[in-house]
Amino acid sequence: MAVSLAKNTVIPEALIMKIYRTIAELQGALQQVRKQSQLVGLVPTMGNLHAGHLALVRQAMAECDVVLTSIFVNPTQFGPNEDLASYPRTFEADCSALTELACHGIFYPSVEEIYPQGPMLDTRVSVPALSSKLCGSSRPGHFDGVCTVVNKLLNICQPNRAYFGEKDFQQLTIIKHMVSDLNMSTRIISVPTQRADNGLALSSRNNYLSEAQKQQATVIHAALQQTAMALAASEPDIEQLEATAKSLISEAGLAVDYFSICHPETLDGAQKKDRSYRILAAAYLGKIRLIDNLALNLPA
Ligand code: PAF
Repeated sequence: MAVSLAKNTVIPEALIMKIYRTIAELQGALQQVRKQSQLVGLVPTMGNLHAGHLALVRQAMAECDVVLTSIFVNPTQFGPNEDLASYPRTFEADCSALTELACHGIFYPSVEEIYPQGPMLDTRVSVPALSSKLCGSSRPGHFDGVCTVVNKLLNICQPNRAYFGEKDFQQLTIIKHMVSDLNMSTRIISVPTQRADNGLALSSRNNYLSEAQKQQATVIHAALQQTAMALAASEPDIEQLEATAKSLISEAGLAVDYFSICHPETLDGAQKKDRSYRILAAAYLGKIRLIDNLALNLPA
């Protein structure tokens, strides 16, 4: 039996609201979908879904015939002193949220399914230059873990499109680079950052913050906005603007990791003559590391 959707596509019953725990099961179902030339979208996540993830799923649902969300807390992207063990795992709530959106399938593999030889693989995928700066300086190896698992997920699911949030802008840039350099056929789609009413970028790590800390953390977005306005208003002194933003964040009680005004593609430090910028920031509130970024495009 099959079900017809409004867009006149027919989803095989095997793919409706199913949870796939193995690669073989998932690939069996996807084979049926491909026979019908349907457009497959993948939303890779580590679970603990919030409105930011759900915006990715919504966009994928609007653009693709069949949408899969993967939920996998990837051990290879966590450093030895990071929060792998305590990373929030909320599978049942995630399933309810995805069911409500009518997402077609959830890929929920175990660590052994993805890394049968253990996470210390012989093969790693790396985009070294882009991965060593900004977040990469304080999280060595993090983006190699991300690239390796995203590569595996794209190979396993072979989606036509894969959706990533702009909140992790360095991750998004690195993944686009990897997909282009390795001639992978999946189109990478970026989706704008979702924010709370007070401006705080939505993140699973916000769950670690008290209500007062969530308010305190809004200084990161405020500093990004203030910097964007200053960049737009005058002949910029980039280093001065970065220093001012860092002071603002520190005065609010956060420890700044970096605040950088960058070229939006290379993520190198911006030049005075640039008209497009990506401003990226990371700061610690207690032990919690928060990141955010903002685009600024000035008329040529
Ligand atoms: O952004 C994330 O949640 C993760 O880094 C990703 C892309 C799912 C890879 O594990």
